[in-house]
Amino acid sequence: MKSEVLEITPNKKQEEFFLSKGRYIAYGGARGGGKSWAMRIKLVLLAIKHDGISILLLRRTLGELRENHILPLRKLLVDIAEYKDSSKEFLFRNGSRIKLGYCDSEGDVLQYQGQAYEVIGLEEATHFTYYQFLCLTESNRVSGNMKESFSPRMYLTCNPGGVGHDWVKRLFVDRCYEGNEKAENYVFIRSSIFDNEFLLRENPEYLENLLALPELRRRAMLEGDWNCFEGAYFPEFKFDVHTCLPFSLPKEWGRFCALDYGLDMTCCLWLAQSPSGVLYVYRELHEKNLILSDAAKRICSLTGKDERIRYVTASPDLWNRRQDSGKSGAEIMRSNGLSKLVKADNRRIVGWRVLREYLHDGGGEVKLKIFQGCQNLIRCLPLLRFDEMTPEDCSSSPHDITHAPEALRYAVMSRQPSYFEKLPQIADRFFPIRSRENVRDYIDY
Ligand SMILES: Nc1ncnc2c1ncn2[C@@H]1O[C@H](COP(=O)(O)OP(=O)(O)OP(=O)(O)O)[C@@H](O)[C@H]1O
Ligand SMILES: [Mg+2]
Repeated sequence: MKSEVLEITPNKKQEEFFLSKGRYIAYGGARGGGKSWAMRIKLVLLAIKHDGISILLLRRTLGELRENHILPLRKLLVDIAEYKDSSKEFLFRNGSRIKLGYCDSEGDVLQYQGQAYEVIGLEEATHFTYYQFLCLTESNRVSGNMKESFSPRMYLTCNPGGVGHDWVKRLFVDRCYEGNEKAENYVFIRSSIFDNEFLLRENPEYLENLLALPELRRRAMLEGDWNCFEGAYFPEFKFDVHTCLPFSLPKEWGRFCALDYGLDMTCCLWLAQSPSGVLYVYRELHEKNLILSDAAKRICSLTGKDERIRYVTASPDLWNRRQDSGKSGAEIMRSNGLSKLVKADNRRIVGWRVLREYLHDGGGEVKLKIFQGCQNLIRCLPLLRFDEMTPEDCSSSPHDITHAPEALRYAVMSRQPSYFEKLPQIADRFFPIRSRENVRDYIDY
């Protein structure tokens, strides 16, 4: 590939990055694929091609910015653009400029508020918070210095891990969109060190170093596995192992639900257990702002007429009486059609340990499979992190990712034999256990 001023040889992925069209284009995954090189060159090509364009290139710290971009750009742009150290800007003869900046603290991003850049490059985007990303999207607009029309856009490079892991993964890897976000605006190009012949040839020990990393870090950094980074609470969760395409479940398999109710988010999971003991999560409800009665009705309406749900294990706080009505949440749900509610065993650390056993992959059949339609559970489970204060527990922030895993924890705890021994005592007065046979109904599968 030749431009009038630069002679460059991009690899296939870099070429794809150069040619991608979208509002947000991320180039990410494994280390060393040539992402920073591609970012630098792309921005220079844009500056040369489009007279008067304003471009901002950001990294988290000044040291990283200097090493990674200022020095290489100064070398590359001798005779092409003038560098102004005071403002950290490259000024091109055609009126274009590339400004380099950094955002050490979260609030540093505010200095770009009110400014306009047709193009923003975010290097190591996973080192930026979602708040910073959102603030920057507001500055990503036409600056008024260009004569031609131009669609503003952002380019991102990223590796798994870091404070921004979740939002980058959600938007570009999982592709789960909320509110006004549109799938077609987000492009993701997966990088691999094996794309970068230059690095493999010139610096073979780079690959050797990656191969020598501890397993989790290696999977994140060499294989670009977004479900696996240090700090992940369930590193054993693997999409290929723990999810499956939906299939028609045999009628005789016992089914039940697990519910984590909250007005901020209600998560209900439907599960079935195979005769060999494998739990299949086959449906999920994950919805905000459902009042109790509506949540109960939604769960009932999603349950098929011939599906025999044996019980709904639900967070015990549902049995607290509400000040306004004097009724408990469980009573309200029951009067709206959701019967068979039982208090979940909500011990956290024991519950997570049991869930870890379900996820354990010993080479044979794993004990937990999730239908691939249950997108929220599949997205949230690998995002859980260790809690900094109680290392055996997982962190309850960000709060919105905890609902689906908590429901799953109630589900696996309800399959512990001891749960059924306690069942008559923990059932509320509406729970329809009247005879030993009836109790067996909950146990015999
Ligand atoms: N097409 C290319 N032509 C020449 N050199 C290249 C090319 N692509 C990458 N390189 C060189 O390969 C090395 C690694 O590339 P780069 O730093 O861009 O990778 P990266 O994906 O950003 O790595 P990291 O994940 O560590 O940030 C650098 O020395 C870079 O200049
Ligand atoms: Mg880089």
